[in-house]
Amino acid sequence: MGLLDDVAEVLIREDELRARVADLGRQISKDYDSKTPLLVGILKGAAVFLSDLIRQITIPCLMDFMATSSYEGGTESSGIVRILKDLDQTIEGRHVLIVDDVIDTGYTMDYLLETLKARYPASLRVCALLDKISRRRRHVPIDYRGFEIPDKFVVGYGLDYGGIYRNLPFICVLKPEVYA
Ligand code: IMP
Ligand code: MG
Repeated sequence: MGLLDDVAEVLIREDELRARVADLGRQISKDYDSKTPLLVGILKGAAVFLSDLIRQITIPCLMDFMATSSYEGGTESSGIVRILKDLDQTIEGRHVLIVDDVIDTGYTMDYLLETLKARYPASLRVCALLDKISRRRRHVPIDYRGFEIPDKFVVGYGLDYGGIYRNLPFICVLKPEVYA
């Protein structure tokens, strides 16, 4: 049994992801020209997206990571966000771009924006590969958005279910019996 046996439906193919990530990289390179932005990836979900995105950025940039937790392993956000790993550097006066895999309820990004805003960055923006807008509980301004997706729990391209499926190269929905 391989991972592919658990896949019910592919929502975003590998070539679609590649093309969209290239678009985002171009746009970010243009907008941050001569600003040396700090890209902040939210672990672990955004690791795959950020590693592809950064190679589509053609200007000098920096990279750091934060880790948060609100899911505790399931498919529903608890609404309480905790920082498990903070940035290695101060961001005062820096142009910060938070990079995440998916904005779902918005609790995580809302919390991150509040937290990082208090550290006086020169600017603070959000880049999200996926936007599940119908699930939003907190308003989140998304400056760079990959795809809007329906209210489905998805995995692949960094997104997991119970820690598994991050290495699938596309975004997909799993068979119902897998979530059971
Ligand atoms: P939010 O706080 O509800 O917006 O959730 C944000 C985080 O929950 C994301 O960064 C993901 O790590 C995780 N998440 C939300 N929806 C999904 C999904 O469909 N698949 C896998 N992880 C998800
Ligand atoms: Mg995440």
